This record gives sequence, structure tokens and C-alpha cells, in this order.
Amino acid sequence: MSGTVCSPTVWWRSGTVYQVYPRSFQDSNGDGIGDLRGITRRLDYIAWLGVDAVWISPIYPSPMADFGYDVADYCGIDPIFGTLDDFDELVAEAHRRRLKVILDFVPNHSSIAHPWFTEARASRNNARRDWYIWRDPAPDGGPPNNWLSNFGGPAWTLDEATGQYYYHAFLREQPDLNWRNPAVRAAMHDVLRFWLERGVDGFRVDVIWHLIKDEGFRDNPENPDFLPHQPEINRFAQVYSADRPEVFDVIAEMRRVLAPYGDRVLIGEIYLPMERLVAYYGPDLDCADLPFNFQLIQTPWRADAVADLVENYEAALPPGGWPNWVLGNHDQPRIAARIGLPQARIAAILLLTLRGTPTLYYGDEIGLDHVSIPPDRVQDPWERNEPGHGRDPERTPMQWDDGPYAGFSTVEPWLPLSADAVSRNVEEMRDAADSILTLYRRLLGLRREHASLSVGSYRTVPLGVDEVFAYERFEDGTTIRVILNFGEAAHRLPLPEGTGWTVLLSSRAGQAGTRLRGDLVLEPSEGVLLLLS
Ligand code: GLC
Repeated sequence: MSGTVCSPTVWWRSGTVYQVYPRSFQDSNGDGIGDLRGITRRLDYIAWLGVDAVWISPIYPSPMADFGYDVADYCGIDPIFGTLDDFDELVAEAHRRRLKVILDFVPNHSSIAHPWFTEARASRNNARRDWYIWRDPAPDGGPPNNWLSNFGGPAWTLDEATGQYYYHAFLREQPDLNWRNPAVRAAMHDVLRFWLERGVDGFRVDVIWHLIKDEGFRDNPENPDFLPHQPEINRFAQVYSADRPEVFDVIAEMRRVLAPYGDRVLIGEIYLPMERLVAYYGPDLDCADLPFNFQLIQTPWRADAVADLVENYEAALPPGGWPNWVLGNHDQPRIAARIGLPQARIAAILLLTLRGTPTLYYGDEIGLDHVSIPPDRVQDPWERNEPGHGRDPERTPMQWDDGPYAGFSTVEPWLPLSADAVSRNVEEMRDAADSILTLYRRLLGLRREHASLSVGSYRTVPLGVDEVFAYERFEDGTTIRVILNFGEAAHRLPLPEGTGWTVLLSSRAGQAGTRLRGDLVLEPSEGVLLLLS
């Protein structure tokens, strides 16, 4: 079943996704690292919050060079996280609570420790040699072309024993698989089926636009806009190392593996400009159901810029392509760190009221901020290679209560907690009328109550005020107007005469239920949802 024929209310369209970074959600065995049983223990919280699906970052056996994004066995569970039995229990318990489970699938590269790679590097004529990407050295003995690793340095490492370079878009411990090889594709399809048979409801596919590289391995052109503070990878435009036309066949094939299993979802991780991003729905909507849209992360936080972004995205979507929005993930600075806490509340409203499937990142619902990491506690290999670009600050443990280690663990966690963990935690915030957690939960509740919010249409409402972005969502005669103040001044906004508006929600506590007449006074950094009645 491709995206075209599924019902408009299939769960991954009307629902919401919550990303769990498993190392940091809940430790159940006292080693300072989160695990599967920990997640299972917290499923009641996830259900209480009101999301529909949990996406879990990689849990497979791994040397953890890139914290699980270096997979040594695609069909197992790393002992740090538990066992396959723990996984089955998690899926069963999630389903019992009507929660879907989405796995992270990392097909572009394996770990250097994967048996496939051990075989491939054993000799030039090993049957698995062509499962990875090998090239002879350049005439001077150096790398075959100018492609760089996303974590800094060349993307090619010389295998001394066999005299050829292998390609790795990320760490040298993450050799890229050769997706032009049908045997690789078949093996990976079996991996998908293995997890589908265990009941998973879909996959988030890691760096899906990387799967196919230029057949001729041409040099990437220089990027004229490169700035010295940027990661080294930006020195070149990634024209030949990724986003190649043949990738769509590979993705469509993957989608076909999911098809017989019903309404499972295929989400693609894609960092590309808008016009390229939307191509990943596929020529016949037969590729990614949801090509992750990271544009809210990349757009300047101004009302006009965000309004333009939404208009442009809506216009760029292929007919029938379902939109989606992401505010944060384990690779990006926390939303609270990027725009501050008052605006993080506006961001929550935006994420949960725009048209399209929202993905929430664990911890954002309690306003977790950037946690500074002392040099001796740095974990992310990217930070070691290119200081300042590390992702540890957004991967710190979830804060549950004001007990030792914020209820995350019984020992010092693998990354530090935030300094305000005693007050910034679920237990403190869950009943506080003005907490960001309460705001998230109410928004998620409203999405369930109002089809206009979950599946309704979208239109921008021009108000003529620079710092204010307003739009409406409507469905079956119900209209909800969303008005967001991106600025620090209050605004008096006239409401259309002859219509009645009721405040459904305000980012300031205690406003809901008020019936408005005449003007709306929007406080600094205030966002409201009004129901037309
Ligand atoms: C994706 C993941 C990131 C990882 C990289 C390599 O971008 O989100 O965490 O380091 O792929 O697998």
C-alpha cells in the first residue's frame, strides 16, 4: 500500500510521534544508561502525555562508536539496552496502551565490527567484498576523491591489508554499505521483515538520502558559501556523495517490503533544501510516507520567516503528500536553547497545530535546555573531531522527579543532568497549570478532540503585525484560529465582527474558556488557540 491509497486518518497522519533517545530515557539496571525496561516502565507517562507513537533511536548490538548508529547486528539488542524478550515486552506493553513503536533503521552504514565488514575486508575477492564501497588509491596514494566525512576529515580510510580505501560518510568505524548490490538490498529487506514480524509499526530510516552515491565517484564541487565556523563537511556541496536519482528506486523497494504489513510507516531522515526534500515522497508517493521536515529547526525564529516557510512547504508538497514537522532531535540543539523558554512555548503550539504529523523530542516537553558538558565527560565522537559541534548537550537524561539523579538512575548518569533538575522534572511540572508540560499535554489533548487540528486544512491569516503569525485549521465546519506572538511586545488585535471566539488554550495559564468580544490582547510571547463559534 503506498501513501496514495491509505485513509486520511491513518494513525501516522492524525497522530504524533515522540522520540526517545534510549540511553537517556530511563535506566532500570543501575548502570547510568537508559534501557528497554526503563522505557517500558515509562510507557504510562508517554500514554498520559497523549502522543500516539514512540520512535526509539538505535538499540542494536553496537560498539557504540556513534552510540548505536554503528550497528554490528541488525537483528539483535545490545546488552546495554536489554534483550529481545525485553523488546517484545516493550512492544506488547506499548500496544496495550495503544501506542505505536517505530524503530530506527540504519541501512547506510554498519559498524566496522559487523561480520559482513569483517568478511568484506578479509580479501579483495571475498564474496562480501562488494557489500561495501572499495576504491583504489588515487595515483598519489591518497583517497580516491574529495569526499569528506560528516564528522570531519576524509570519508575514505585505507585498509592496509588489501590496499584499497573504503568509504564512510560518517566515522571510519561506520563503513557505508553498497546499496547498488542487490544482495545488500535483499539482506536489509530481511532485516525489515524481522522487525515487522515482531510487531513494529514502522521505521525512521537514518540518512536515507545517502544510500546511493555517484556511480563515477566524481569530486564534490566547492561550496562558495562555506564559512570557517561551519563543520568541515560544508566545504563542499554534497552533489555526488548523496541525493542521487537512483536512490528513489531503493526507497520504493523498501516501501514495498512494508506494504503487506498494513499501515506501517516509513519515515526518512533527510537534511536537504525544501524542493529536494519533497522529492522523497517519491514520484508516485511510493517512497517515504514522511520525509522528515527539519525546516523549523533551520529557519530563523521570526514570525515572517516561519509564515513564509509554512506557505512554501504547503505549496511544495506533492498532491496527496502528507506534511510533517520536527522541532528537535538528538542531533540538534534543544529548542529551549535555540529560542529561549518563553518562545519554546510558542514553538510547542506551532509544532502541534500546524498541518502535518509532529515529532516531539523527549525532554522538550519539560523545557530541557542545553546542558553544558565538562570536557572530561564529552561522549560524542563528533565533539572530539570538531569541538563545538558535539551533540551531548541535547542528549542528557530525562528528568522525572527531584530524587537522586532525577529519578533517571540510581547512579551518576552517562551524561550530566541539567542544573535545575530539582525543579525541572515531570513530577514537579505535571500538575502545575502554567508548566510547559501542561501546555504540551493540553495541546496533545486538543489534537485528539478536534479533527480540524489533526487532519484539517490550513490557511494563513494575514494580520499585518510583523511579530505575529496567525493561521486557521478547519474541518467539517469547525475553525480554530492560532495566533502566535514571536515578539516581546503586547498587541491589541481586532477580531472579525459578527463572529464569536472562545479561547481554547493560551500559553498563559487560566485563559481557556474565555469568550472574546471585540479585540484580543496578545501578551508578549503569548500564543492562543481560538475556536470559532
Ligand atoms: C543520523 C543520526 C545521527 C548519526 C548519523 C550517522 O544523522 O541521526 O545521530 O550520527 O546519522 O548514523
